[in-house]
Parts: sequence; C-alpha cells; structure tokens
Amino acid sequence: MTSTILLTGGTGTLGRPITPMLLDTGVKVRVLTRHTKPSGGGVEFVTGDLATGEGVEAAADGVDTILHCAGSAKGDEEKASTLVRAAAKVGNPHLVYISVVGADAVPIVSRIDRAIYGYFAAKLGAERVVAGSGLPWTTLRATQFHDWILMTLEAMAKLPVMPLWGGAKFQPVEAEEVAARLVELALGEPAGLVPDIAGPRVYTMAELAKSYLRASGKHRLTVSLKTPGKAAAAFRAGANLAPDHAVGSRTWEDFLSKHYR
Ligand SMILES: NC(=O)c1ccc[n+]([C@@H]2O[C@H](COP(=O)([O-])OP(=O)(O)OC[C@H]3O[C@@H](n4cnc5c(N)ncnc54)[C@H](OP(=O)(O)O)[C@@H]3O)[C@@H](O)[C@H]2O)c1
Repeated sequence: MTSTILLTGGTGTLGRPITPMLLDTGVKVRVLTRHTKPSGGGVEFVTGDLATGEGVEAAADGVDTILHCAGSAKGDEEKASTLVRAAAKVGNPHLVYISVVGADAVPIVSRIDRAIYGYFAAKLGAERVVAGSGLPWTTLRATQFHDWILMTLEAMAKLPVMPLWGGAKFQPVEAEEVAARLVELALGEPAGLVPDIAGPRVYTMAELAKSYLRASGKHRLTVSLKTPGKAAAAFRAGANLAPDHAVGSRTWEDFLSKHYR
C-alpha cells in the first residue's frame, strides 16, 4: 500500500520544493493549509489551521508520516501541541519537525530578548512538544534560509539608512537543500534529534548587506546597531551558527545571482 505523508507548511518557502520531491518517491502527499486549494497532480489539499485546531484531526487521519514545516514568527509551540494532540488521537505517525539552529542556545531572560528573539524559545518549546509526544519523531535544526536573509535585507533597505544587527553573523542555507534532507528523514526511521544542517559559509551581516546591495543595484548607507540583552549577546557569539555542519553547497552569492538573473 502506498504510504501517505501529511505535509504542514507545504505552501511555504521550505514546503514548496518538498512536495515534488516526495511525489518523485511515489508516496501520496496531503498538504495542510489555511486556504482552500483544489487537489490535483497527486497532491491532496486539506484546509485546516494549527492555531485553532480546525481541520487538523481530519488532515492527520490515515497518514504514516507527518512532516511539520508550518511555522510563523510566533506561536510555533502551540501549533506543535495542536498537531501532536490531533495526530495521537487518530494514529501513531512518524513526526518529522523542522527547527532552527540555536533553539537551545539563545537565552530568553528579558522582555527585549523575547521581543526580538522569542522565535528561538518557541522553536525549542515545539521541539520539546515533539520529543515528548509519545509519537516516533525526528527533528532537524537548520540555519536561516537565503530567502529569509533576503527578505530581512529588503525590509531594512526600505529605510534611507539600513540598520544592521551589529556583530551578528549568519550561515544561510538553501531552502531546497533543507527540503531534500527532510524528505530523506521523512522516508527513514525515526531518529530523534539529528545533526544540524547549515550553509557553506559564515558571513557578517555587513557582508550579506554589501553583496545584496551590489546584486540589487541599490545604494544605501548602513549603520550597525548593537541590540541589548542576553539573547543578542548569544547571537553575536554565534549561537545561530553550525560551522561543523556546513553541509549545504549553495552559497549566498549563488542565491543572489539566481534571484537577480
Ligand atoms: N525561514 C528560515 O530561515 C528558517 C530557518 C530554520 C527553520 N525554519 C523553519 O522552517 C519552517 C518553514 O519556514 P518557511 O520559511 O518555509 O515559512 P513560510 O514561507 O513563512 O511558510 C509558512 C508556512 O506555514 C503555514 N502556516 C502558518 N501558520 C499556520 C497555521 N496556523 N496553520 C497551518 N499552517 C500554517 C503556511 O501555510 P498557509 O499560509 O498555506 O496556511 C505556510 O505554508 C518553519 O517552521 C520555520 O520556523 C525556517
């Protein structure tokens, strides 16, 4: 019997390349989305919302594996809890989760930490929900995707002077390479917390901004701002980096030249 995989976040940056990769392996793919979409081409779209729980049990019913890639700036721990509750009610699927490098290394002790870096605590909370779910599970932590770096720089370039996080470094990775690793994990045995995935090079934010400005043909002054707090200090110390797991092959420069081609 062909197995069915439920993919949450299948409409997002990471999820979009996952669907064709899964279909190529011969599995059936069910995608959970908050929107109504026509099913077809081997993909079944199911409408549901992990923030309210609506439609989630029906989406999880009858699947062998759940690849949980839905996420947002806030509330990922709650979304994971909703998914786990629904999944455990209707079966015992292998739950594969995408987290972020530094989830356990960015301390959140103040309001400022939470306001700017609360995402990391939410990802750690979600990791704990997955690990404590009683379901077979696998979690992969990735560094920031090239697309996220670009989106962040584009937002900053809207200002006449671009503010950059002073001292912050990034090791961006291509979302498609993370997608391919997740597909491998989803088709494999539950493995717990697996080695991180990170891009090939570490860059300062100033380096990323410089190459972005050159590639996009924009001219901006930049200003380096040091954010206060323990979380920002951990970031400056490289908590979001995984230099020992620089397994991605596509560089930021490759991404920019493809994007601005
Ligand atoms: N971006 C990065 O640099 C990065 C790095 C490491 C890890 N990650 C993790 O990778 C995952 C995917 O990130 P991404 O950049 O691909 O995100 P994205 O492009 O913003 O896409 C978010 C996805 O989550 C779904 N979603 C959001 N809220 C939902 C809800 N309440 N119920 C159901 N689905 C919901 C959206 O589906 P609909 O809009 O169709 O409902 C969409 O498919 C996230 O867990 C993120 O934390 C991201």
